[in-house]
Formats: sequence, structure tokens, C-alpha cells
Amino acid sequence: MHKLPDNIQPSRWKVGENGLEVQWLHDSHLSFYNWDFLETYIKGERPEPENVPLKYFGAAGHPDSSIEYEEFGKNERQAVGRLTDMIRRNGFALVTGVPTETAATTEDLLEKITFIRRTHYGGFYDFIPDLALADAAYTNEPLPVHTDNTYFSDPAGIQAFHLLSHTDPSSGGGSETTLGGETLLVDGFYAAELLRKECPDSFNTLASFRFPCHASGNEGIAISPDMLYPVLELDLDQNTVHRIRWNPNDRGVIPLGEDTMKWYEAEKKYHEILRREELVYQFQLKPGTVLIFDNWRVLHGRTAFTGMRRICGGYLNRDDFISRWRNTNFGKREIFRQVIGE
Ligand SMILES: [Fe+2]
Repeated sequence: MHKLPDNIQPSRWKVGENGLEVQWLHDSHLSFYNWDFLETYIKGERPEPENVPLKYFGAAGHPDSSIEYEEFGKNERQAVGRLTDMIRRNGFALVTGVPTETAATTEDLLEKITFIRRTHYGGFYDFIPDLALADAAYTNEPLPVHTDNTYFSDPAGIQAFHLLSHTDPSSGGGSETTLGGETLLVDGFYAAELLRKECPDSFNTLASFRFPCHASGNEGIAISPDMLYPVLELDLDQNTVHRIRWNPNDRGVIPLGEDTMKWYEAEKKYHEILRREELVYQFQLKPGTVLIFDNWRVLHGRTAFTGMRRICGGYLNRDDFISRWRNTNFGKREIFRQVIGE
């Protein structure tokens, strides 16, 4: 016999074989709920939109993390499904064989996932280093690993780069293999797990101590998140890491209090883990390969370079990315289960 929990008692209800018939007191409306639908609620289950087993990566990257551009021409839905699933589980993906004649092909590829997010820097970009834009990414100095957008309430979930060309006109050309500028990726979730194992106190400090971030280097721009966030944001059960904010260049003043020195120590420890050789996936991006990664999880950086690099890329919203991932990887029933808990 099916039974509703004692604290849920609508005005008038009748238990039938196939479900529950409820007549609501305020307007006499009659509703019907089948037992399949009610089961999840009776058990007290809730939707688990983020419940996906993640595969951590280290210096070797992932063996299965690339997809050929031509796959998108054969079966776009399937290719987008594979691409988004790789990013979701592995943290990043590489699309190989992407035409480099024009940046528009890369823009079009990203828009197969979802629309490109606009920020105060613009939308889809296609640039060569120019310090006038007042951001460290526009120099040719080494760039330590970091996450982007720590200053937004909702940092972009996905980021993409495509090195369209790399040459050195002053030395007669050169190539991307001799001119430097290797990409660095670090799985921040993996690094956080190591921190938790090696130094649980530091993990807890990074997950609780909140500090300001900002973007205010451009004229007329003064962006900060809606509230202070910690380096490691945990999930609802306060168990696994859900989002990382790591960009020392965008930090405001670290609040002074009794935990300040503990935080600096924890920050130093996490920083040490992020730089470990076995954690840093370092590789040379070549024209034709688009890198797309999870900016809430994966930290990115690059080594110094000489010559001129032309790079294009953009940000995608996380919610819209996840929506596309769901719709290209699951049937209706599973999507509803993830979204509303049915
Ligand atoms: Fe960046």
C-alpha cells in the first residue's frame, strides 16, 4: 500500500491503484500524480544535476581527450555530445584539424556548444599580445596557472583557446615548437583532493575563508562578485569541490582576522601542489587544435614565448554548457531526473 509521509497531507486525497488523486481545498482543483512520479519525492530524493564521476588528470593528460573537427560535419549532435562529455568528465578536450585560415571557424565550433559569453573584454576574441588591454594574458611573459573570472559572481564555466599562428618575423619565421609558449593545465580538483589528504586543515581553510576579488584595471570598469567567496567552493553536502577561484592577480585585500595567517599557509600549500611536476600537463598547442576546458575546475597558464602569437577563443556560460551536454548525452527521462528530480 502506497503512503504519503505524515507531514504531507493535502486537504482531500484518495489513494488509487495507479496513483494519488488530490482535491485542493482552496479552489477544488483535482490533481493526479502517478506513483512513479511520486516515488522520488516520497523517498526524499533530490535532483543531482552534478552527479558525474570525474576522471582526474596529471602530467600525462588524458588518453581519450581529443576529437576530430570533421566529426562535427558527419554528425553534429553526436560530436557535440562526445566533446561536452569529455570536458565534463575529464576537465578539458582538444578538437584537432580545425581550419586556421579564419578565426570564424573556431567561433562557429564554440557556438555549436552554446552562445559565446560577452564580458567587459568583449565576446569572441582574436588577438595578438597588446598590453594596452591591461591584462596579464596579453603579454608574452610566463603565466602561472590560474582560473579566469574570479571577479564574477558566476565565473565562465568553459573557456576555449585556439593558437591560429605563431611566428617570429625578426628571426625569419620560426615555429611554435621553437618559440615557446607551451600550455599548462592543472586539474584543480585533483590538487584539492591531494591537499585534503595531506593537510585537511588547509583544505578546510581554503574552503571557508572568504576574500574579495576584482577586475578594475580598465577605465570605467569596477567588477567584483556579489559576495566574498573562498578559493574552494564545496557542493551542497560540503563534501566535494565544486568550483575553484584561483588568480592571485585578481585578489583584493585579504581580510585581517584570526584565520589570516592560516589562510596564507593553506594558500602556500595548495600553490605548492599546483606546481608539482606530476600534476602539470604541459604541451605545445599547435595551429589547428582548439583547447576547450572547464574553468571552474582546470587551472591554465603558459610558458614564456617569443615572436607573435595569434590566438582566438572565448568563454561559455556553465549553465548553457551543461544544458547542451545533457541534451546531447541523455534521454528525456534522465534529463528530467537531473533537472527536476522526477
Ligand atoms: Fe587566463
